Amino acid sequence: MNLQIESQRSLKRIIKSLDLSGLSKANKALFVQRLEAHFPDLFALLFDIYGHRYDFYFHLQSLAQTLLQGFEQRSASLKQKDKQRVNKPDWYIQENMLGMACYVDLFAGDLSNLIQRIPYLKSLGINYVHLMPLYDCPNGDSDGGYAVSDYRKVNPSLGNVKDLARLAKAMADENISLVLDFVFNHTSDEHQWAMSAKQGDSEFQEYYYMFDDKNIPDMYEHNLREIFPQVRRGNFSWNEESKKWVWTTFNNFQWDLNYSNPGVFNAITSEMLFLANLGCEALRLDALAFIWKDMGTDCENQPKAHTLIKAFNACLRISAPAVIFKSEAIVHPDEVVKYIDKDECQLSYNPLLMALIWNSLATRKTRLLTDSLRKSFNISSDCSWVNYVRCHDDIGWTFDDDVARNLGIDGNDHRRFLNQFYTGRFEGSFATGVAFGENPSNGDCRVCGSLASLAGLEQGLQQNNPQLIDNAIKRILMVHSIILSIGGIPLLYSGDELGLLNDYSYKNDVSKQHDERWVHRIAITDEKIQLAQQAGNPQQKILDGLVQLISIRQQHPIFGQSDSQILESNNHHLFTYARHSDEGEVLLAIVNFSEHPQTLDSKIIEHLGSLNARDLISGQAYCAGQKNITLGGYQVLWLVQG
Ligand code: GLC
Ligand code: GLC
Repeated sequence: MNLQIESQRSLKRIIKSLDLSGLSKANKALFVQRLEAHFPDLFALLFDIYGHRYDFYFHLQSLAQTLLQGFEQRSASLKQKDKQRVNKPDWYIQENMLGMACYVDLFAGDLSNLIQRIPYLKSLGINYVHLMPLYDCPNGDSDGGYAVSDYRKVNPSLGNVKDLARLAKAMADENISLVLDFVFNHTSDEHQWAMSAKQGDSEFQEYYYMFDDKNIPDMYEHNLREIFPQVRRGNFSWNEESKKWVWTTFNNFQWDLNYSNPGVFNAITSEMLFLANLGCEALRLDALAFIWKDMGTDCENQPKAHTLIKAFNACLRISAPAVIFKSEAIVHPDEVVKYIDKDECQLSYNPLLMALIWNSLATRKTRLLTDSLRKSFNISSDCSWVNYVRCHDDIGWTFDDDVARNLGIDGNDHRRFLNQFYTGRFEGSFATGVAFGENPSNGDCRVCGSLASLAGLEQGLQQNNPQLIDNAIKRILMVHSIILSIGGIPLLYSGDELGLLNDYSYKNDVSKQHDERWVHRIAITDEKIQLAQQAGNPQQKILDGLVQLISIRQQHPIFGQSDSQILESNNHHLFTYARHSDEGEVLLAIVNFSEHPQTLDSKIIEHLGSLNARDLISGQAYCAGQKNITLGGYQVLWLVQG
């Protein structure tokens, strides 16, 4: 069978079958043109997954109708945005990009109030805002909103869809890109599809993985990890209503969708286009590593997961091309990079950089960071990392054990050390963190805690020790300097700019106390913002220092479109990298991960292609002729030709 010929035949039939009468002449031409451009790819991708089914063409045709509907319902202003973005697809690789992730309720109370917080975001230079899931979800525990009951309904405590549209518009007016979650690996067990499945509707039972007994689940279970072993062992939950076992990778109320069913792909595409049409510019693909299950594998990062994501991406190119994908793959670094492709996910969280920044803070050594990034940092120049130091989730130590082994580090032992260090069980640690997801079978765990608490501020304030406080502030600024300069979109986690400490009140809330991640999901009140404006206190020093770094970033194009090269520095406490732009500009960053002064050979300046250098942060001049360059404890240099 010739795939190309079949694809062309199908396209012809499909175009004939579509009712395009609702579109203006120009829009009709535009839609058909995009369909013709992207259908061949979409066809090949879907054929790979569903081509063996007798009803393949039926689902293909109904998908085309969904795409048409998504296009029809897209507003004129978003269609305008589509054109802009198609003409300038590299908009997210600019020096002015700066993201923030926040919970609507914790940051502003609700969606309407969030509009009032736009000036605050602007004052920081934020132009990309990821709002944590704000959809309708079960009362009580909803995994922080990651159990979606209705993608088209906003959680009533935050407002409604109109409020969201108003917010999207207000953000667009201020050139802030709205980023929403696309929680497509699972729905909540209260979603209409799940409710129908519970009542025995076989069509909807096929939307999920449901089994009469434990035989098949046990066969799968052999190779699966457990994500939340603290609340439930295994990956399947018994549902009493339907008397079936249901695949639930995360909590028992989060039912994994069954993408081997093309009906699920189509239904979710329709939900995706609804979100796109709300005006978001990027969708964060939640838990994307888990969407394809293959017996005998760990059911993560399967080749068909990539095929599916590419197919979703092709759907967007047809109906809502302004929207891009951000990958949330918190997995082995070799797997993380496989999702990054302009036809798959244009953006990706960088969990390796995040985890290894924390590693280097603990060890004061940069070899693992340097070697790992030399291997895994470079990605296609039309894609971008989203670099972060904290997010709403725990820290998992997802580095490459082979890279560690080359340095004489045993991965498992080292993870145990890091967990001890960040949960404060290691003598001399500066960190105040909490263990998360402890697995009774193998002792594994991950780490929770706010940036400030993990970086030592909580301990410093508790002991009222100016030296500890000062070190913590320096650490916080230093780690931010890296995400601001290494290449990619820096993503701040709301509250970190204010140095917020762990909030232990979750322990009093029955719907939260079993999930330690709540310790770093902290309310941002007006008082806390004001506190950070009072001269001299640690919070103000953090905010001020951060704003200074941000403003330097935004003034220099070298922080935007330029490639990054991780360097060797001959001093194991220093982390060094260079950025080169096509115009011949160079940035040389040197970061001291130790609290003590460190020196390095001034020859490193030669990377700038100049004998003289100037530090953008302190303004100080350096020259290659001098013997050594000395950095103070936790100091950062951003050197340019000078
Ligand atoms: C993602 C989210 C996490 C959630 C999980 C299940 O990893 O970041 O918070 O628990 O998906 O949706
Ligand atoms: C696991 C998953 C990741 C998720 C996290 C939530 O690490 O791989 O996707 O964010 O669990 O705790």
